[in-house]
Amino acid sequence: MSSNSSSPVVETGSVATPSGDPRGSITLRDVTQTYGSGADAVTAVGPVDLEVPAGEFLVLVGASGCGKSTLLRLIAGFEPATSGQVEVSGGVPVPGVTSGVVFQQPRLFPWRTVGGNVDLALRYARIPKAERATRRDELLHRVGLDDTADRRIWEISGGQQQRVAIARALAAETSLLLLDEPFAALDALTRERLQEDLRAVSTDSGRTNVFVTHSADEAAFLGTRIVVLSRRPGRVALDLTSPLPRTGATPDELRGSPEYAALRAEVSAAVKEAAAAER
Ligand SMILES: Nc1ncnc2c1ncn2[C@@H]1O[C@H](COP(=O)(O)OP(=O)(O)OP(=O)(O)O)[C@@H](O)[C@H]1O
Ligand SMILES: [Mg+2]
Repeated sequence: MSSNSSSPVVETGSVATPSGDPRGSITLRDVTQTYGSGADAVTAVGPVDLEVPAGEFLVLVGASGCGKSTLLRLIAGFEPATSGQVEVSGGVPVPGVTSGVVFQQPRLFPWRTVGGNVDLALRYARIPKAERATRRDELLHRVGLDDTADRRIWEISGGQQQRVAIARALAAETSLLLLDEPFAALDALTRERLQEDLRAVSTDSGRTNVFVTHSADEAAFLGTRIVVLSRRPGRVALDLTSPLPRTGATPDELRGSPEYAALRAEVSAAVKEAAAAER
């Protein structure tokens, strides 16, 4: 298990953008998403208005079924919104181009090696064949998986598989990374370790992150901004800027601080209140 390795999930600086650069920014204007029609219609999300500047680490929190994954799919461009506008980096979102996605389950190709999974993503990202081996090794190094390129997916742990999924999402060098409960299936120690790596490296990478979770702890630890969604149809119930510092404090200091405890409590209370509220 790589939870005691010292390598970061993602190294800093790979997609740094000058301030004011819209790459990775998100704009949602009056967005709704409805599935089905007539009496069977289910409105999953909205209306939602949200402006996410480049470089922000936005955490979306809310009860099960409130529309978090739906919102992420709209931002990824996997499906068009029923109404309203979704813009990423000032334009229409295109899957694999405007953002990389890490799903709850790693969704790797089990018949390929670790390196083979990353190679495929590089091929999709149209990285020239001659550059792929070097890029693959760089990416595996970034996620703390040196010397694993030839291993089979079933030979590595769940935490390592999630790291491969992150490497794969980074292969396209998108300025926006979307993560849908990526650490939910992991044991507590591995989960904390990956949270720490992700927080540390996102701080000065310039990349924008949208991270979905049920956990108030995870939201308080990771986010520069935390948005709590109401129950379905998901709307913005609370929009908070984190007071926690991004640098200068160790993870243990952060988790032990009164500011973290207060933020976690505020998020937790808001999630419960939003889930219970009458519409
Ligand atoms: N393709 C679809 N067709 C019909 N209904 C859908 C579809 N996708 C989502 N829904 C419905 O929209 C609502 C929101 O679903 P979504 O998956 O976005 O919730 P979530 O907040 O991600 O939940 P969880 O925390 O359990 O993952 C749910 O009621 C779900 O059943
Ligand atoms: Mg979901």
